[in-house]
Amino acid sequence: MTNALQKTLSGQVVGRTREVELVLAALAADRHVLLEGPPGTGKSTLLRAVAQGLGIGFEFVEGNAELTPARLVGHFDPARVLNDGYDPSVFVDGPLVTAMRDGSLLYVEEINRIPEETLNVLITVMSEGELNVPRLGRIAAAPGFRLVAAMNPFDAVGTARISGAVYDRVCRVAMSYQSAEDEEAIVRRNTEGAHIGADWLSKAVSVVRHTRSHSDLRVGSSVRGAVDFAKVAHSLAELRGATIDNPSVGIDAALVALSGRVRVREGSVRTAEEIITEIWQDVFGRVEGDDGEGKAGAPTTRGTTSR
Ligand SMILES: Nc1ncnc2c1ncn2[C@@H]1O[C@H](COP(=O)(O)OP(=O)(O)O)[C@@H](O)[C@H]1O
Ligand SMILES: [Mg+2]
Repeated sequence: MTNALQKTLSGQVVGRTREVELVLAALAADRHVLLEGPPGTGKSTLLRAVAQGLGIGFEFVEGNAELTPARLVGHFDPARVLNDGYDPSVFVDGPLVTAMRDGSLLYVEEINRIPEETLNVLITVMSEGELNVPRLGRIAAAPGFRLVAAMNPFDAVGTARISGAVYDRVCRVAMSYQSAEDEEAIVRRNTEGAHIGADWLSKAVSVVRHTRSHSDLRVGSSVRGAVDFAKVAHSLAELRGATIDNPSVGIDAALVALSGRVRVREGSVRTAEEIITEIWQDVFGRVEGDDGEGKAGAPTTRGTTSR
């Protein structure tokens, strides 16, 4: 792993030095890799950058319920089968066969969402290094073929199905939420040209981070929410002819960017809007008197945190 490579990667990936190193080491050791972490923790960003940085080809597959074995492996073109029969030239390679033939990376997003039978095909390829396709025959994985997959361990869909059989065949790199500094740098990168002040930006990131630990919220927002918060606040301020520091701009932008991203805990009597307004006020400071709109009835207890 050259310094040049690490430099290239640090141009694309904010922070994550250790995770980048672990993924590079696992790939160099010819291992399959699973990146596990909540949405928005940079799994795709990291894997894309690593594949590009290494200069190795990669086949990208979106994991979802429609990813049948035929879509992953490939299929015989039905129209041509009529004329030419089941000839190898009639077979249309899917991403798995392409990656195996080329010795490149097969990159599967949200692997927990793929159907059981498709998962079994991947398990077979990982254990045997080859695949038997009916009427086509045996396809061996060329050197360099590796599976890299990403999943959200808290996804309600199919995570339980990711069995010991998969875990036993991959190296796992855990991705937790980025540090506040890294999240600020990510938002900064995504809002270049908007000239958002450092103080506002760091408070905005702080609001988003608080959604992850608030006792009334089961799911908080990822850094994607922070990027949207900053972008919406910037345009809303322009539309209203106000500055981004204006409380009604900030609260409205936070509500638009975050209220759909958080999940209120069962049993809580409060709405997402009330909770986000409260977090915003805790971070940016309460506005007494002149905002007077009584935003969604959020409690305005006096004498609490003023930061
Ligand atoms: N470490 C990082 N460096 C640069 N951008 C990042 C990083 N982490 C997240 N992002 C940004 O946040 C968004 C979500 O990242 P992504 O890689 O798609 O997350 P995941 O695949 O884990 O859901 C992307 O727009 C990406 O640009
Ligand atoms: Mg992703």
